[in-house]
Amino acid sequence: MSSALHITGGVPLSGQVTVRGAKNLVPKAMVAALLGSTPSTLANVPEIKDVEVVTNLLSLHGVQVSRTDGVLELDPSAVTTAHHADIDAHAGDSRIPILLCGPLLHALGEAFIPDLGGCRIGDRPINYHLDVLRHFGARVEKVESGIRMSAPHGLTGAKVELPYPSVGATEQVLLTATRAEGHTELRGAATEPEIMDLIAILQKMGAIITVQTDRVIRIEGVPELTGYRHRAMPDRIEAASWGSAALATGGDIFVAGARQSDMMTYLNTFRKVGGGLDIGEDGIRFHHPGGDLNPLIVETDVHPGFMTDWQQPLVVALTQASGVSIVHETVYENRFGFTGALNRMGATIQLHRECLGSVPCRFGQRNFVHSAVISGATPLRAAEINIPDLRGGFSHLIAAMAAEGTSHVTGVELIKRGYEHFTDKLSGLGASFDLDDE
Ligand code: EPU
Repeated sequence: MSSALHITGGVPLSGQVTVRGAKNLVPKAMVAALLGSTPSTLANVPEIKDVEVVTNLLSLHGVQVSRTDGVLELDPSAVTTAHHADIDAHAGDSRIPILLCGPLLHALGEAFIPDLGGCRIGDRPINYHLDVLRHFGARVEKVESGIRMSAPHGLTGAKVELPYPSVGATEQVLLTATRAEGHTELRGAATEPEIMDLIAILQKMGAIITVQTDRVIRIEGVPELTGYRHRAMPDRIEAASWGSAALATGGDIFVAGARQSDMMTYLNTFRKVGGGLDIGEDGIRFHHPGGDLNPLIVETDVHPGFMTDWQQPLVVALTQASGVSIVHETVYENRFGFTGALNRMGATIQLHRECLGSVPCRFGQRNFVHSAVISGATPLRAAEINIPDLRGGFSHLIAAMAAEGTSHVTGVELIKRGYEHFTDKLSGLGASFDLDDE
């Protein structure tokens, strides 16, 4: 099914939205349930496509998943091998299958993952994941349409050093090491709040994990883990997306459920651009206080830096700041594709191969277009847009809300991967649009 939105912009988005559990935690928490000997309960689960995909993948492997409102019950007592063809039917849907490998190797001694999808924001290789699994003793073979793994002699703890603090590879280590025999030392770990929440879940299950300074995590393997009860941390990417939407449209949005401690770096940046903030216990109000917005220099980075997923909505807001802003993307090599549509809408954004930041990053010498210079303020006008990926796509929706005239936006289903009920939320904020579901 393909969906299109016809958005009439120029209306400040104002009102309240609620964010639920984080898209980048919930699927991993669901996978963790596979490691338990008893059922798990996960609360605050959003209705997004990625949760549906992982539900299907777990069901194929014999995990019973039931949902009541925002609460998932996951029962792994009958885990079984799935047919390759059935798993393959999910190829292209998500990158989560790679994280099933450790738990499946523990449960069954084998695993298969289809060729992986996810957003088109660079090559998105899985070499770190495969190296990690090999360190634990897994045999990894490339076969037609996917990768087959086996661990005939079980998995044993290992010393692993990541070349870059990859979120997914850190999760791979955690999900594999907790039940591997012996101790694991991970160096170069990612420390994003979603990873800390996953560690909290694993600790509830009986795992012994110590987070040390300097990106070192130690795990003492245990023979058995039990189920957990957990409430997923809020989605700090969605929260920031609404914050930038308020700024770009001259609006005022209270994001219920947004949590300050997860968003410190975004909140500092938002304030430096000139946005108004009211930070409360139950959420955060983001508003445009009137007057000019300030240009900025921003570099994306791993936690505690400015998240790569906060970048795209902020770039739309920066098109409305008076002066020259610079954004240096250091996490993904190819995450500015979405700016082409913004330029067609009247923005002035120039892309560069050089590192336009204080620290040269690993993309500078490799010919990747990964820095953007944004000259503002430029009024935006409506355009025809085909959404390229999740975060770039949401930034296009924000641009269309800020633009004069009616934009036609296709490929909208991609947004459902990570933004729960976003059309209802937009209506509630006073946006003017029609939705075509074909
Ligand atoms: N990388 C490799 N080899 C690997 C894995 C990663 O070279 O085997 C590279 C990537 O190409 C990238 C960098 O390492 O340049 C960081 O990638 P990371 O592994 O940290 O990303 P991920 O785990 O695949 C998650 C989120 C992304 C988010 C990044 C960074 C999920 C499902 N995805 O991806 O979220 O941008 O961490 O925070 O958790 C999104 O929500 O739209 C999204 C893309």
